[in-house]
Amino acid sequence: MSLCLSRHFLCFKQDIPNYQARGFNIEINQDKIELLLVRQDARVQAYKNHCPHLGIPLNWQPDEFMSLEGSHIQCSTHGALFSLEDGHCIAGPCTGQNLTTLALERRDDNELWLQF
Ligand code: FES
Repeated sequence: MSLCLSRHFLCFKQDIPNYQARGFNIEINQDKIELLLVRQDARVQAYKNHCPHLGIPLNWQPDEFMSLEGSHIQCSTHGALFSLEDGHCIAGPCTGQNLTTLALERRDDNELWLQF
């Protein structure tokens, strides 16, 4: 059984267009957390906005995380491509590494909350 200590409301599912992502910079207990939510139909995943290659944010424009085709998350610095489903890097300088997955709670099917 997992114990959820706390949660932070992020947005509603419909705030994220399908096959798009949205970035958040939040502060929890004086810790700053940069993250993104990526949506595929009914599924939404949360990842830290942190490229495993150089440890910097993936995007350089707000909410711009996707490859041109909308099929992968793409790092804007050196172009690494990450799977939407699990954050696994399939091409680029950090191939084989992963984005850090964050725990997401869905309430009333539509509210997206970060668990921490
Ligand atoms: S910093 Fe992301 S691919 Fe180099």
